[in-house]
Amino acid sequence: MSSQIDHLLDETRQFPPSDEFVAQSVSSPALYENAAADREAFWAEQSRELLEWHKPFTQVLDWSTPPFAKWFDDGELNVAYNCLDRHVEAGNGDRVALHWEGEPGDSRSITYAELTEEVKRVANVLEGLGVGHGDRVAIYLPMIPEAVASMLAVARVGAIHSVVFGGFSADSLRSRIDDAGAKLVITADGGYRKGRVSALKPAVDQALADRGDGEQQTVEHVLVVRRGENEVEWREGRDLWWHEVVPAASDEHTAEAFPAENPLFILYTSGTTGKPKGILHTSGGYLTQAAYSHKYVFDLHPETDVYWCTADIGWITGHSYVTYGPLANGATQVIYEGTPDAPHPGRWWEIIEKYKVSIFYTAPTAIRSFMKIGRSVPAKFDLSSLRLLGSVGEPINPEAWIWYRDVIGAGKTPIVDTWWQTETGAIMVSALPGVTATKPGSAQVPLPGISIDVVDESGVEVGNGNGGLLVITEPWPSMLRGIWGDPERYRETYWEKFEKQGYYFAGDGARLDADGDLWLLGRVDDVMNVSGHRLSTAEIESSLVAHEATAEAAVVGAADETTGQAVVAFVIIKESYLSAHDPAGLAQQLRLWVGEQIGAIARPRDVYIVGELPKTRSGKIMRRLLRDVAEGREVGDTTTLADTAVMSIISAQVK
Ligand code: PRX
Repeated sequence: MSSQIDHLLDETRQFPPSDEFVAQSVSSPALYENAAADREAFWAEQSRELLEWHKPFTQVLDWSTPPFAKWFDDGELNVAYNCLDRHVEAGNGDRVALHWEGEPGDSRSITYAELTEEVKRVANVLEGLGVGHGDRVAIYLPMIPEAVASMLAVARVGAIHSVVFGGFSADSLRSRIDDAGAKLVITADGGYRKGRVSALKPAVDQALADRGDGEQQTVEHVLVVRRGENEVEWREGRDLWWHEVVPAASDEHTAEAFPAENPLFILYTSGTTGKPKGILHTSGGYLTQAAYSHKYVFDLHPETDVYWCTADIGWITGHSYVTYGPLANGATQVIYEGTPDAPHPGRWWEIIEKYKVSIFYTAPTAIRSFMKIGRSVPAKFDLSSLRLLGSVGEPINPEAWIWYRDVIGAGKTPIVDTWWQTETGAIMVSALPGVTATKPGSAQVPLPGISIDVVDESGVEVGNGNGGLLVITEPWPSMLRGIWGDPERYRETYWEKFEKQGYYFAGDGARLDADGDLWLLGRVDDVMNVSGHRLSTAEIESSLVAHEATAEAAVVGAADETTGQAVVAFVIIKESYLSAHDPAGLAQQLRLWVGEQIGAIARPRDVYIVGELPKTRSGKIMRRLLRDVAEGREVGDTTTLADTAVMSIISAQVK
């Protein structure tokens, strides 16, 4: 790994923006100067410029009880009004908000006026079901326009959404519904994935199945969009069809103003323990930074650009850069329901050609899998509308960066590599395409108004040319406000490590090169990043040991050419199980088991059945050594193992 990093840091190619790009760019060096002169005044100005406040704020940041921040605290706004009505009132109602492309090839283009009307109807339905200010609504939908409309309708009535990625299992959905105490679930019969309908409603039914003693069922209704046309079971009185109740509802609905710190959503993400954390975001600060970063990082010209972010709304990228940022800015965007290769490997490029997409934002894992297929596929399509490309979710290696620029961007588009997290709510580190000379593989510089640093274990700045831990040194508008129901875990996870300095600990290793540009080096905790998705080793381990065959399990993230990291599991099987069962096919069964328990994204690439796990004298599993095995390297220093012979046994068993 370290020789690879040194090699990366030798990267010297730089791509300054072209004169034409600079001439039309919405950003300029003045942004950095203004933010440096007075950070809080800068954010206040951005917020006033980008959003419409029903009641203007007079305070910017309240950091009197760290780590609990309040931004624009005495202001009031309605998030959905900012994403919809005001664009219609400004005369842009006929502008397309969403060009939606279904996987089978059906499509719909929805204007701001139409989306506003739909959201008003849904808001009326929600209120009719008794869902209002502060209530939680779980959203478990495919990438269809109703997903965006649902999020906005929930926001409009001052309720809190918790979007659960459609690829998560019934169990994962259930624990998220229960943790948030959701009152309503919005789902679909199914959606299209890889050329066929993948059902969603059965997982909801299972997630809502009877609770045991002492477990309370909070869900009162399930609102179901018809998309897959697949058969579904129906619970009278609880389940409602969207197509029956939404069109029947009134399209008049006044957006009430809520305080800036009104919670907007909870989004669960993996941490270092088995239990996902409900990351809480609020309204005014979040929307400010989502809109700000979307405008400047993507150099948005809302009248002419067609923007496409390929993320699912189940992830933070889908929240900030499909729903909130683009719609707050009045952008026209594409959303696509399905997989990149259905029904053919050029599907994404076909969509870019069809809608003349000008700004495209995706993940390195996708780029690497297109690289594998080869340039002949994108070469069949007209991609000349593209003028800016973005990357998110994991480090992008220089080779993939250059391929992206050359093959997709015709050798001329700037590429912005954006570093951020579910917790940061919006982009924190990225080039500004009209200002920064970009550098393949480096996420580069904090956005104007954001302060980051790289420090050592004791919180001391490491300086250019050195590696350490990435920290955020000043509060930012879209920062998480906490972990749902667990303020102590919030403090412990992010703030305890550098409590003295008051820094936010991101959990990422990073290095500053000689120019002061930032290079991300991966997680420093037990969180893996598989295809840009965050997974916890502990969560997968606890799913493995929940299987009747498993005595013990250890999971590591091993380097993988396409997915960045891959899940590799080492499992010890119970003697009692082995004496009663045939172990053939057990590794495959365990892979599928994890998929059922958590979701297909968590399924291990490899499951190795071993006799022992490497442990220190105090019983801690040494994952570092397992990672060596999983990556096919010589095993590192084993002197702290309780039994130093164990690694050669494991290596032999894995072979
Ligand atoms: O390790 C970093 C990596 O993804 C983590 C955040 O994951 P999540 O909350 O799921 O959000 C992903 C989308 C914002 C980070 O701690 N990460 C994200 N973006 C980058 C990245 N690593 C390197 N370069 C990036 N551009």
